[in-house]
Amino acid sequence: MKGKRGLLFSSLALVIVLVLAGPIQNQERRFKSPGERIYYTGIGGNGYSIPFYEGPMWLSMHGGGCVSCHGVHGRGGMPVMMGTAMPTDIRYKALTGKKKHVHEGEEKEHHYTDALIKRAITQGLEADGEVMDRTMPRWQMSDADLNATIEYLKTLE
Ligand code: HEC
Repeated sequence: MKGKRGLLFSSLALVIVLVLAGPIQNQERRFKSPGERIYYTGIGGNGYSIPFYEGPMWLSMHGGGCVSCHGVHGRGGMPVMMGTAMPTDIRYKALTGKKKHVHEGEEKEHHYTDALIKRAITQGLEADGEVMDRTMPRWQMSDADLNATIEYLKTLE
């Protein structure tokens, strides 16, 4: 009798666990790639929020990814709350192409390589070495996360 009840309880517990775990698993699967997850949530391959310095206060408080500033299409151009610079176009083709871009009234040409994009993300330095505005967070991410992010930037049309 006792054994049967025990079995009933454990199967019930299992059902509850499965029901609760379902949505959590789905949430994990909502992103098509690790890079997309970083872009939308700022959560790295290890499952934790990627630490950063600089960036606005609200980002430290609420968390978030590149999308909060550069937008779903990666083209930037929308002012950011408490920001002191306009987020730029970070689509891979824009960064590596010869697209002109105006920064502090000065017209520049981008010539980012993958290594320079990584440096921009982690150290806040532009392709020509100029220090970016502090609105752009300096993301302390692993090389694997950087590669994943770059792969995602390549998918932005
Ligand atoms: C809080 C807002 C914010 C967030 C979040 C943010 N950025 Fe930025 N980012 C900026 C701003 C603003 C600039 C332009 C800085 C400047 O002009 O000095 C910038 C510039 C850049 C640049 C340099 C582009 C150029 O035109 O030279 C790259 C690359 C970049 N961001 C990548 C990222 C990536 C990747 C993420 C997510 C991991 C991210 N950013 C998240 C605000 C943000």
